[in-house]
Amino acid sequence: MANILIVEDDEFFRPALKNILVSRGHQVTEAENGKIARQIINASPIFDVVISDIQMPFLDGVELLTWVKAHKPCPFILMTGFALVMETQKAHELGADDFLAKPFNEKELMLALLPIIKSELKTEAVAPVAPVIEYCKVSIDEFVSSPKILFDVYVKLGPKFVKIGHKGDNVPIEQMNHYREKGLRFLYVVREDFRQLVSFNINLSRVLSEKTGVNKEKKANFMRYTGEIILETAFINGVDKEAFDDAKSFLQSSLDILSDESDAFTLLDTMNAHADYLYAHSLCVSIYAVMIAKKMGWTSAQSMFKVSLSGLFHDIGKKEIDREILDKSRALLSQAERRLIESHPSRGQEILMSVPSIPSEVGQVAYEHHEDNLGTGFPRGVGKREIHPLTQIIRVANLFSEQVLKSPTRPGMTPKNAIQYMTIHFADSIDVVAFKALKDLFDDAAKTSAA
Ligand SMILES: [Fe+2]
Repeated sequence: MANILIVEDDEFFRPALKNILVSRGHQVTEAENGKIARQIINASPIFDVVISDIQMPFLDGVELLTWVKAHKPCPFILMTGFALVMETQKAHELGADDFLAKPFNEKELMLALLPIIKSELKTEAVAPVAPVIEYCKVSIDEFVSSPKILFDVYVKLGPKFVKIGHKGDNVPIEQMNHYREKGLRFLYVVREDFRQLVSFNINLSRVLSEKTGVNKEKKANFMRYTGEIILETAFINGVDKEAFDDAKSFLQSSLDILSDESDAFTLLDTMNAHADYLYAHSLCVSIYAVMIAKKMGWTSAQSMFKVSLSGLFHDIGKKEIDREILDKSRALLSQAERRLIESHPSRGQEILMSVPSIPSEVGQVAYEHHEDNLGTGFPRGVGKREIHPLTQIIRVANLFSEQVLKSPTRPGMTPKNAIQYMTIHFADSIDVVAFKALKDLFDDAAKTSAA
């Protein structure tokens, strides 16, 4: 039996919580706010655990926690919610032992109490070891764009993920904007939920089968390599850092779920093995395309996933072309070699169409990404009207990446020179809106740093 103090101003919730704990044999004291709790704690022997709400009149949960840790330290669990992300982070720094996202059920309550109340270990049927759950980092923007939370939302506190919002809760938009201003950029969702958020349908039975699934170690190495080494090369000085970090985490989460699927993983892995430059370029196009799309006002996670995938795979048709030919400058190519290079959009589409989990638009973008608005591109030489809006974004990101990233055929330009070069050579053949969005990414960052 444990001696528990419940601090909660809700007149209905407090007795309900007390009933659960009393029915399990615990001794429970109630306080209706932090101030009364402080008086009770002062006058009593130390409690085994305090379970406290955060928002309360007179003295809130975080203030009470600060006082308890300084004067009569004991285990402290805070009841939190989606609108209380920053308070939760602060409470974690102050030494809170655990958090419970309201509303919680009896099992969640007991799981939080379990490590604190030893006697529960002997009698409780709840499994003592929680299953390993993997999480994906998602920009806070994904949450403010819809009125309801689509999935349970977590905040990362040290090594631990704490649930702060439930699927179906209203999004506290004003509060989220306030957090944004205070510098909070990311929240977390369970990886399976991210997969649904972007509507990525994969054949689960195939992934779960060990024979064809991706070797975990191989995947981990791949992710580490992508995350630490390659993605950093895509950062171009002068770009809006916040937008870059957003797009980078989105790409990381996309790669993470994509690499569960063996066909898609093989594509990524071969591209990576075939030519470092090709892979770095593809990641760069993916990140800049996501930033451009966001700047143009695209918001849905599904569309953003297609943008991200299109950037990654637009040049996949090059994976079958000899590296020696890929590394030659265009002027030195023979006619046959040039024909081979110009076949990569069609070959890319064929490859992508053979992977069922990849949306068809991604294949279409691969096919069209060398078309232009003037009708002078390849393979078909169609004009503006027949080019998919997604392709227009990829084209701008592709041309930009070609200018700024170093490659065997190019030295790499500064972003300012790259934009100038694009204005002189491609202004008539690329989408005006997408190109303006790219320029804004640099102009906005310049304005922010000058302010
Ligand atoms: Fe290409």
